[in-house]
Amino acid sequence: MKYIIANWKAHKNLNQAQEWITEFVTYDFSHLKHKVQIIICPPFPFIPLLKEKVLNFPFIKIGSQDVSVYYEGAYTGEVTARTLAGIADYSIVGHSERRQHFNESEAILFNKVQHLKQQNIKTIYCIRNIEDKVPESVAMIAYEPVFAIGTGESDSIENVIKVKHELKLSSHTPYIYGGSVTEDNASIFLLNMEIDGVLIGGASLEPKRFYQIISICA
Ligand code: PGA
Repeated sequence: MKYIIANWKAHKNLNQAQEWITEFVTYDFSHLKHKVQIIICPPFPFIPLLKEKVLNFPFIKIGSQDVSVYYEGAYTGEVTARTLAGIADYSIVGHSERRQHFNESEAILFNKVQHLKQQNIKTIYCIRNIEDKVPESVAMIAYEPVFAIGTGESDSIENVIKVKHELKLSSHTPYIYGGSVTEDNASIFLLNMEIDGVLIGGASLEPKRFYQIISICA
């Protein structure tokens, strides 16, 4: 079972989100459905729309790209784990763009993971390198080196595996790679037994490219 995660970041308006999902669900998943867990992480407002469209596809789940550090209360604009409960199945936490542009510290990230756990939302926890600490109770770890994100320069398979070994993860924790994964290089990661999936930014914005990557798992 491989995890194929789409991170749309701050892309797409309502029409584009609708077009994406409408096209995506027309593709043939018959040979893939027991081999992949697809997780689509759109901007918050599109989560319910996408969730409704994939109701008949149990191997497609919807996730958020972030979650509030607060439980609830007077925090205008925040989206809490409590709000997401029953709506999102997964949440990305610790993406390097959040650490960099929003100054998210490890303390903040660990708090977010706790809130998600309380609400039974699975955490996709991103790390930039082995210096980043990993909280307990995350559903999976995504190794995303900053130099590889959005640059077209993915990390080498040797290094991705080396990082995995250095992390000394429990054998139950799926290990995902992200950073410039495309339909041209995804097979290097997806066909390797040591790697449990890929987290895709740019190449997930077109449903056809995203499907091509998923198809590698057939
Ligand atoms: P990329 O982004 O695939 O565009 O490099 C990956 C990510 O930031 O999750």
